[in-house]
Amino acid sequence: MRRFVGQVAFVSGAAHGIGRAAAERLAAEGAMVAVADIDTEAAADVARGLGAAAFRCDVTDRASVDSAVAEAVDRFGRLDVLVNAAGNNLGGNAGAELSDEQWGRQYDFTFTGAVRCIRAALPHLVAAPDGAVVLIGSISGMVALGTDPYAAAKAGLSNLVRNLGATHGPQGVRFNVVAPGTVATRAFAGKEQLLEDLKAIYPLGRVGRPEDVAAAVAFLASSDASWITGVTLPVEGGLTTGPGHLLR
Ligand SMILES: NC(=O)c1ccc[n+]([C@@H]2O[C@H](COP(=O)([O-])OP(=O)(O)OC[C@H]3O[C@@H](n4cnc5c(N)ncnc54)[C@H](O)[C@@H]3O)[C@@H](O)[C@H]2O)c1
Repeated sequence: MRRFVGQVAFVSGAAHGIGRAAAERLAAEGAMVAVADIDTEAAADVARGLGAAAFRCDVTDRASVDSAVAEAVDRFGRLDVLVNAAGNNLGGNAGAELSDEQWGRQYDFTFTGAVRCIRAALPHLVAAPDGAVVLIGSISGMVALGTDPYAAAKAGLSNLVRNLGATHGPQGVRFNVVAPGTVATRAFAGKEQLLEDLKAIYPLGRVGRPEDVAAAVAFLASSDASWITGVTLPVEGGLTTGPGHLLR
């Protein structure tokens, strides 16, 4: 499939893991990709491999996001797709024990980070024939599986895309979330046994690969999803079906 020929995609967090796989998938389908990341060295490597361009982008810093998007649009002349994959679980559980700063840091990174990317990209997406935003949420935002601040911030993305989908639908811009289950990325480095153990909670019998998520990102970003906005698509090996597979 070559669904993005002539289009430009800005992917935050594209130097590693899920963001990288999304950048690779979009590029394989013909997009010119802006590989945006705080890890500039790894981003440059990814961009080189894709014949794309790398941009320094820290989603926790408005000026950094604004200039990365502006530089990408200067370079490529347009913007059709925004994927926000930058993020990590900063940890911390037992809600009552966490400081305001710990809550704020996760929210700023995960939720406001997505908002910063959308705010910078929106005028360009409105100008595009079919603008699309895909945010990487998490299954942690849908079921009780994950640390409290991370889960809450990811859940917020689902309502954000509903609101923005309604507001900007008439302008031709779609907003959706892909909510992955456990995906083997460097976020699990040194936790191979945990990944092995987690297989059991997935009806499809394995944890995810970055490419599983990238395929869903590409679908929602593409014209194949041209009548889909405001949704959260779980990509999670059946986890949200519940524990039924353990009982059969
Ligand atoms: N791996 C999983 O199991 C899993 C599950 C659900 C959701 N997610 C989400 O998927 C996304 C990608 O996670 P991953 O597992 O691929 O992690 P990863 O660590 O492999 O990739 C994260 C990327 O974000 C970049 N990044 C970190 N801070 C940044 C910042 N401030 N500004 C810009 N870029 C920054 C990193 O350099 C890296 O390239 C995250 O939003 C994560 O919450 C991951």
